[in-house]
Amino acid sequence: MRVLVIGSGGREHALVWKISQSKLVDKLFCAPGNGGIAELAECIEIKTEDIPNLLEFVKKEKIDFTLVGPEAPLAKGIVDEFNNHRLRIFGPAKLPAQLEVSKVFAKELMSKYKVPTADFRVFDHPDKAKRYIETVGAPCVVKAEGLAQGKGVIVAKTVEEAIQAVKSIMEDRIFGEAGNRIIIEECLEGQEASIIVITDSKEVIPLASSQDHKRVFDNDQGPNTGGMGAYSPTPMINEDLFKEILEKIIYRIIDGLAKENIIYKGALYAGIMLTKDGPKVLEFNVRFGDPETQAILPRLKGDLLEAMLAVTYDNLSKFKRLGGLKWDSHSCVCVVCASKGYPGEYEKGKEIFGLEQVKGIQDVVVFHAGTRRVLDVQTRKIKFLTSGGRVLGVTALGRTIKEAINKTYDAVKKIYFEGMHYRSDIGRRAIEEKPLA
Ligand code: AMP
Ligand code: GLY
Repeated sequence: MRVLVIGSGGREHALVWKISQSKLVDKLFCAPGNGGIAELAECIEIKTEDIPNLLEFVKKEKIDFTLVGPEAPLAKGIVDEFNNHRLRIFGPAKLPAQLEVSKVFAKELMSKYKVPTADFRVFDHPDKAKRYIETVGAPCVVKAEGLAQGKGVIVAKTVEEAIQAVKSIMEDRIFGEAGNRIIIEECLEGQEASIIVITDSKEVIPLASSQDHKRVFDNDQGPNTGGMGAYSPTPMINEDLFKEILEKIIYRIIDGLAKENIIYKGALYAGIMLTKDGPKVLEFNVRFGDPETQAILPRLKGDLLEAMLAVTYDNLSKFKRLGGLKWDSHSCVCVVCASKGYPGEYEKGKEIFGLEQVKGIQDVVVFHAGTRRVLDVQTRKIKFLTSGGRVLGVTALGRTIKEAINKTYDAVKKIYFEGMHYRSDIGRRAIEEKPLA
């Protein structure tokens, strides 16, 4: 079959890499893709949110299955549009995508269906929000309601910081309309984990657990990023806790949506804080995580494409009965190599060296994020240039998390581009922390 993946990041490279191994695929496209994806799929220059041109391309090229990577096209209703044209597409429709698009929608639904999450209040006026902060005190968490590219959450240690966050979001409007309303919520303490499932709303198949590293520097210092690395599985989640998360969080939210006549189909991501009072939801995303996907998919033994197709045919339970997805017992670590300046302003166009040396190493795979593949006119050879903040996700499997960490960093050290930086402690917590449960 002919498959299109929409997106251009490390997550999409990992998805394309996995799908390219499926026996069901004849031809793979990616819009717009990146330098690494170009080695596995034909990259098409259509932007991820350009729904009319994506639709036209899918019709013209007779694409049998489309997978949406990022949230923006989902928020814009690409799935509804494709369904109207009877085209097969994986991802939630516009209404269920509200779970990520509107934090107020998500929190209110969680309250109604008793999904454990931080206590919260919603504000549509800055003065009321500021007065509330003065009564509850710090620490507290201020969140813009809408999509803000991962920057809309401020964990404030002081009252002043929280009030400044309200001012930036609601008065200076740094996130535009996404900050029309804000949430102020209780600050939770614990370890974070990511649980991603795929669902057709009747059946749920969880992917392996993982943990992201959001801060830019070692020991969780510095500003938040899109994610500087991940590992899977996380020892913090044992079998009982995984079951508890599925029952109290995943099933409750999917059933809650169904009770509101909203059918959720696609990948569902729960960002969770493992508190001493049990797992609580930090956020829902309506897609696969980035960089979690890069650390999860190398451990997957089954055919992800088959599972996603089953979702679009409404027969995920049959897929599960026939074996479902199986996981390799190896651990996997993904370290993100970023451009100088990221998550702030950064330069592009730096040549990346060392990719050839890493290519042959067993159990190591380099997922590209912000890269371009170009022909060097002098040497007539292909080379790769940086084209984004997060450039590469260097990923390795190991029999233990320690082995996976060592293999990943051995590979990272072979790669170089001007200004490259990365965290040197990805996965370390999995060795140091005692499991909570
Ligand atoms: P979110 O985009 O809502 O997941 O928030 C981004 C990051 O902010 C999370 O990964 C957490 O590190 C942090 N965060 C969000 N909500 C809370 C909370 N209620 N308590 C403590 N930290 C939080
Ligand atoms: N890793 C966080 C996210 O995908 O939003």
